[in-house]
Amino acid sequence: MDDTKKAGRYVRIYKQLKDLLMLTGDPLARMASVCAVLHHKMDHYFWTGFYLLKEGKLIVGPYQGPVACQELAKDKGVCWAAVNRGAPVLVADVNSFPGHISCDSRSRSEIALPVYNSQGEIVAVFDVDSDQKDAFSSVDQGALSDIMALIFSTE
Ligand code: SME
Repeated sequence: MDDTKKAGRYVRIYKQLKDLLMLTGDPLARMASVCAVLHHKMDHYFWTGFYLLKEGKLIVGPYQGPVACQELAKDKGVCWAAVNRGAPVLVADVNSFPGHISCDSRSRSEIALPVYNSQGEIVAVFDVDSDQKDAFSSVDQGALSDIMALIFSTE
């Protein structure tokens, strides 16, 4: 999907999610809804989900797509890189990312973003895999960062 088409779709998804997520304040329910909406509206998404940061571990949370790794080896792979850098990580080709953790051999590219609670602490990672190479751009990064800010939003 080209960036112009993606950008338009993200605008519509953001509006839909904002209305939906404000119906509950529960972060897990919000995460589950984010996965369901994005996974079914974005053709380039193959696996869509959250890993929750609990007692120094990344444990799988709400997701859509094929069965995923339950826990990610500490400080290895794309999701831990997003936590440790405190910034989104875009990987155009998962085979060239040192330490990439492969939960499904069909994954080709990936984006991971830290999720912050209202105290500004990282409490989870949002991770999307695509079965196409180089599927994610700065458009995905910007739109997904805005969507992640909704998880703990009170407005
Ligand atoms: N590839 C991720 C692991 C999670 S799965 O893609 C669902 C990583 O390297 O952290």
